[in-house]
Amino acid sequence: MTDLELISEVNNRGYAVISAPSAADDPFDAHRNVARSLGLSDAYTPVLYRDLEVCDVVGQVGPYNEIPRDSTSVLPWSEMPGQQFHVDGLLEPLGGIKTTVLHCLEQAHSGGETELFFSCEAFLKLSAADEDAARSLLHPEALTRFATIAVTDPTRLRAMGSAFGRVDGALSTRFSDGTTEVWNTSGNPALQRALDYLRGPALEAHSARIRLAPGDMLIFRNDRVSHRGCAYQNGDRPRRLTRSMYSSAPFRRTLDR
Ligand SMILES: [Fe+2]
Repeated sequence: MTDLELISEVNNRGYAVISAPSAADDPFDAHRNVARSLGLSDAYTPVLYRDLEVCDVVGQVGPYNEIPRDSTSVLPWSEMPGQQFHVDGLLEPLGGIKTTVLHCLEQAHSGGETELFFSCEAFLKLSAADEDAARSLLHPEALTRFATIAVTDPTRLRAMGSAFGRVDGALSTRFSDGTTEVWNTSGNPALQRALDYLRGPALEAHSARIRLAPGDMLIFRNDRVSHRGCAYQNGDRPRRLTRSMYSSAPFRRTLDR
């Protein structure tokens, strides 16, 4: 696949899977290479991981992350719970992180798929069927996300905003729906209808599960697609992924003069 084809696939379909060899001495070289091919800006450190107190507590710093953070403490054959749907960048404004790259170094013994929920597609479908419900998701107080990391003043680790909206003219999502989210549904039946749709029929119709093999890399538009990691069981060796995030979308810089 050419760079241009890869850029179109990520931007048109919302994601792409490619095969990318990983260098033993630096697992993030593969990220730098694909970022160059996609015309992405430098890898981005989320607001949460720029907080010095958070860094002290969770030990996660910088734009390149290993998942899990410490694979040496993972027991063989241990089971890991699944995640709930979210977009990366818990404290970021809508559309703050446009691209996420996940690279598989070691596969789980079983499970461990990444499930994508094409939440912007679902939003457009809802807009056609129930305009009030769709509009409720655009409200600037519709969705609060918060971190549960123990810091002295946790109020700074909260971000309220719309669940969907336009950023630079493009529909974007921060649809996330787990234990670190609060939806402003009280006295708001339209928002409850929207959530009933997104959690039920929309998920059935607008999702895909991708299981990465070692060397596979998943690139997706984090500003248009929500995602979650599914439950898995480690094998003899722990499942290992690496991740990088970008504030820009794939874009071809023209070299023609
Ligand atoms: Fe994520």
